[in-house]
Amino acid sequence: MKLWSGRFEKKTAVEVDDFHSSIHFDWRLYRHDISGSIAHARMLGRQGIISKEEAGLICAALEQLLMEIESGSITFSKEAEDIHMNIEALLIQRIGETGKKLHTGRSRNDQVALDTRMYAREETDQILQLLSALQSKLLELAENHTETCMPGYTHLQKAQPVTLAHHIMAYFEMFRRDMERLMDCRKRINVMPLGSGALAGTTYPLDREWVARELGFSGITRNSLDAVSDRDYVIEILGCCSMIMMHMSRFCEELILWSTDEFGFVTMDDSYSTGSSIMPQKKNPDVAELIRGKTGRVYGNLMALLSVMKALPLAYNKDMQEDKEALFDSLDTVKQCLRVFTGMLYTAGFNAGRMKQGAVSGFANATDAADYLVKKGLPFRSAHEVIGRLVLHCIKHNISLQDLDLSRLKEFSPLFEEDIYYALALDTCVNERRLPGGPASETVKGAISEGRNWLENVKPGA
Ligand code: ARG
Repeated sequence: MKLWSGRFEKKTAVEVDDFHSSIHFDWRLYRHDISGSIAHARMLGRQGIISKEEAGLICAALEQLLMEIESGSITFSKEAEDIHMNIEALLIQRIGETGKKLHTGRSRNDQVALDTRMYAREETDQILQLLSALQSKLLELAENHTETCMPGYTHLQKAQPVTLAHHIMAYFEMFRRDMERLMDCRKRINVMPLGSGALAGTTYPLDREWVARELGFSGITRNSLDAVSDRDYVIEILGCCSMIMMHMSRFCEELILWSTDEFGFVTMDDSYSTGSSIMPQKKNPDVAELIRGKTGRVYGNLMALLSVMKALPLAYNKDMQEDKEALFDSLDTVKQCLRVFTGMLYTAGFNAGRMKQGAVSGFANATDAADYLVKKGLPFRSAHEVIGRLVLHCIKHNISLQDLDLSRLKEFSPLFEEDIYYALALDTCVNERRLPGGPASETVKGAISEGRNWLENVKPGA
């Protein structure tokens, strides 16, 4: 029998039970639902809304139920719709009339908001932990590669030389923002909605603040209508997840490219690659590709929930039950991707020789050649023009700037002297760029220690 059957004359159609029940996905909230109910029951007892004995009986039965669920001996029922009513029905089955008092001063609407917030908070902390493990790995990798020169690109055309450490630290910055975003979003997750009732609060003298403290929330929601109809925090997490996926996906794309024979910058470990069923020579970067691919579904979940919430009138509407699958799927996907991504980076072998080779070819030092002339007194625009003509000459004669004779160079500008070869050397091009934020190895070492300091002091969950 349904917990709300009093007003109904007919049973729910079987296909409607199939259609609207959410137990097949929201069973995941069982721990959060039970701890929310225990806090609620204890508060009801403290406030004298039910007796202390009744509260004790309810809590003991809920603890027992939790153990049985964890041991796998409970099967939930579709007819009871969702995890909230499944647990309540089981409670009533066990302790009868007293169990029926648990839902005093509470609605499923504030209950589902509470459970989802607790789940989201826990998962956010897990993602922060995973991001922090990834960040440590990035710092370690960067530390090993402050002298590893590689070409930097714009438009995927060689632009100016950088180091692998500098490139890796660019991702450190992205994931740092992701962590900051999640920590900020956590503040908005961490407010306690119970006491909002179905939409209009309740007449019972509930102690909302006590429940909030009991469940580790930093405060309570301020408006009952908003509290039961707010899914902003879910959308925010889906947005954070999307951004994390985007960042991983960009790095994955580079690893895919770099592991080609054409680039040869990186060799993915056998344990993070797969083979082909027909081509014996193949070793494919499937892990990186799959992370790139899964980015699409995480974006999809964000779009799905934005669309669900669009134009929903206040307060709760059943549409909102659609939030959970999107949330669970994105959180699962991001966590799994972060784990394999970190493992993939741990095992990848970076090929410093090929990177250096890439950095000294393709005129990555052309800007430095122009800057050289500027330092000798030529206005930048004119220097740009001279070096442009020089590059064209080199392309036609298949030679690099640094391999031209001084006499040839002087045909393009009398300002060239012997010291041009120092200016064009790879090491100079990288290490003269030592403004804050630049790729010079000393600068990047500073960035790495600043990053390490930040990571050690960051307090996810605080
Ligand atoms: N399972 C529902 C959800 O996830 C909770 C029920 C909300 N309340 C209601 N009046 N139907 O949204």
